[in-house]
Amino acid sequence: MFRVITISMIILFFFGFFLLLFILALLWILVPALYGLPSIPTKSERIRNALKLANLQPNEVLYDLGAGDGRVLLIASGKFGAKAVGIEIGPVQCALIWLRATANGFSDKIQVRWGNYLNADLRDADVVFLYATSQEVLKLASYLEKQLKQGARVVSISADFHEWEPSNFDEHDLIFVYEIPPKKGSLATYLLKNSK
Ligand SMILES: C[S@@+](CC[C@H](N)C(=O)[O-])C[C@H]1O[C@@H](n2cnc3c(N)ncnc32)[C@H](O)[C@@H]1O
Repeated sequence: MFRVITISMIILFFFGFFLLLFILALLWILVPALYGLPSIPTKSERIRNALKLANLQPNEVLYDLGAGDGRVLLIASGKFGAKAVGIEIGPVQCALIWLRATANGFSDKIQVRWGNYLNADLRDADVVFLYATSQEVLKLASYLEKQLKQGARVVSISADFHEWEPSNFDEHDLIFVYEIPPKKGSLATYLLKNSK
């Protein structure tokens, strides 16, 4: 009888454990998908290049809009000495960011806020990092223009702001940097000026 109870408890434990893993994985995928932006991370080297191109300085405040697993925040504070804030809609992603920041000893330099970046207060940002689709970038353009202070930089991976002229551009890694207030123009006007 005792053996039967022990075996049932072990089975129940494993079943509960795998059910929990399954629910967490489902939330990890489904919540971002509902907001139209999949949870695909940027490669670490590309993040470092992007933060260099944006000229991120120690103690500046960086926001990652849609912070995913928190890698941008860890690189911004660990390698650049910045204060990093992640805005993230996925609750599992937020929990993971908090755990990673704490485990790496950056809990005083990294903050994570659970919410929609389209409602976030970004007024103290020096640099805003974005890895989003062209549609999301379109939605964000006027919001960033209203929220960000003069001199703040927006660094976008892969997707450009069609009506803004970049202040810096990395052709190899497809990284666009814009300075606020953004100059009217486009990537084409930037390339034309810089080809001379
Ligand atoms: C492409 S991943 C980028 C992750 C990280 N920034 C990086 O570069 O590795 C996009 C992230 O944005 C989050 N996201 C999507 N829509 C959002 C929204 N409206 N507000 C906040 N986060 C959002 C997703 O949950 C996902 O983790």
